[in-house]
Amino acid sequence: VLAKVGLTVNGQRRELELDTRTSLLDAAREHLHLTGSKKGCDHGQCGACTMIVDGRRINACLTLAVMHQDSEIVTIEGLGQPGNLHPMQAAFVEHDGYQCGYCTPGQICSGVAVLAEIKAGIPSHVTADLNGPMQVTEAEIRERMSGNICRCGAYSNIVEAMTEVAGRPA
Ligand code: FES
Ligand code: FES
Repeated sequence: VLAKVGLTVNGQRRELELDTRTSLLDAAREHLHLTGSKKGCDHGQCGACTMIVDGRRINACLTLAVMHQDSEIVTIEGLGQPGNLHPMQAAFVEHDGYQCGYCTPGQICSGVAVLAEIKAGIPSHVTADLNGPMQVTEAEIRERMSGNICRCGAYSNIVEAMTEVAGRPA
């Protein structure tokens, strides 16, 4: 069954006619040719497909595009581009936050959303003091980033990159 869906992707309105079974990830990669978001597992286990949808990070392989009528979607392409990198992209470069790079678009989208979650005071289950100001500790970062798997093991450098960005004035 085909259905029409209208999305805002990286600030541009896009109208698609899709099989209703099309995931948001396949809609981006195969219909909009935005191939930055990666398909690692297609089962919600790796985080390579992470996008920011209406301000929240989600696994785009686990959601249908037709469920996102009028959503605002940001993929790695929308965060920044060569020559005009998002601070998180620049910090990943500076701190060697990747090796093969396959997990990196998802890590960076998650990283941006994680810092926003902490700034908004949304606790995780490692948050020590639920009443105090939310801290960008290594434990918070590792816990909140635990859905983003890196088979190259770049985790320490990813934590360093995020810590640096968190310390910058907004
Ligand atoms: Fe979506 Fe692995 S491809 S979580
Ligand atoms: Fe290779 Fe993370 S950099 S999987």
